[in-house]
Amino acid sequence: MVSLAPKIYDRIYPYVDAANFKNAHEGKVVLITGAARGIGQKTALHFAMAGAATLVLLDLQLANLAETVGLCKAQGARALPYACDVSKQEQVDTVFDHVLAEVGGIDILINVAGVCNAKPILLETFSTIWRDIEINLGGVILTTMKVLPGMKARGRGCIINMASRAGTVTVPYLASYGASKAAVIKFTESVQKDLDTDGLGDKIQLYALHPGAVRTDLSERTMDPAVAAAYPEFAANRPKWVENFNTAVDLAGAVCVFLATGRVGNSMRGRYLDCEHDMEAFMREGAEQEILSGNLHTLEVRFLGGLPNDGGSSSNLFRFEE
Ligand SMILES: NC(=O)c1ccc[n+]([C@@H]2O[C@H](COP(=O)([O-])OP(=O)(O)OC[C@H]3O[C@@H](n4cnc5c(N)ncnc54)[C@H](O)[C@@H]3O)[C@@H](O)[C@H]2O)c1
Repeated sequence: MVSLAPKIYDRIYPYVDAANFKNAHEGKVVLITGAARGIGQKTALHFAMAGAATLVLLDLQLANLAETVGLCKAQGARALPYACDVSKQEQVDTVFDHVLAEVGGIDILINVAGVCNAKPILLETFSTIWRDIEINLGGVILTTMKVLPGMKARGRGCIINMASRAGTVTVPYLASYGASKAAVIKFTESVQKDLDTDGLGDKIQLYALHPGAVRTDLSERTMDPAVAAAYPEFAANRPKWVENFNTAVDLAGAVCVFLATGRVGNSMRGRYLDCEHDMEAFMREGAEQEILSGNLHTLEVRFLGGLPNDGGSSSNLFRFEE
């Protein structure tokens, strides 16, 4: 296989620099969840810098969105803040009723809201695990279902879901987080498959994005004292783990601005990207062929003896896909 040897960047580099995207999203309405701080706040700022007309900003508390509103307005964008727990269907319904009446439709949805509770399973309860999944996965499902009918009617749209590397590699003490993020990656790919099958694939694109290892409230959160007491080695290693979180907080936002232009096109839609990977490489000749022939950037299973994942004796089940 030809290797395009993409570079790795842990901060904004010329190809995704805001200066190259000044009017890339002129007039667009962009809705961002988890926009009060961290990665979500910087993502809102980057879309404002890219000329978006309206930023619809969702987070748990209205007051916490004031700083992001100010940053977007300073770029000349309209900013509409809403308090919304994205895991609660009634709240999402109410907020989207207001939003859609106010702005008409959403061109770009970026799902950033998320939580991460690092906890050994033996110290977990079902309700805390389920809560993580309701926010990290349920929130993505609820908002996606709200915007898709309008995107279909207008014949355009982009949805980017903040996933995580933890959804693709297995790390101890992250069962709820890893499971929810793997599900976000699969949900993203599955929804794209539905759209492709309905002939909407070149009009509406979804991506799942790892935003890098970023020092934010989420990653620097103090460890639960009960976990530290029961797992002292885990607690002792935590500061070293966090030392490796060196991705710039605004890189994911800059990459979202690039992805939402649709320039990466067919080969990558529905797939999972790491925001530290060189986005220019996706534009190079040979990239599409390498991605499609290797089925890259997706969750995959491999079997003993190299047996194909074709369903064995039930291999005709999914033939309608072809
Ligand atoms: N920081 C990292 O290293 C890292 C790595 C991989 C993935 N991520 C993902 O990136 C996203 C953003 O993370 P961050 O590091 O900026 O975290 P953060 O804690 O700084 O920001 C998360 C935001 O989401 C909001 N939020 C949480 N629950 C919500 C809910 N139920 N409804 C609405 N808003 C809610 C919070 O109030 C906060 O403003 C998350 O989905 C996270 O899983 C982060």
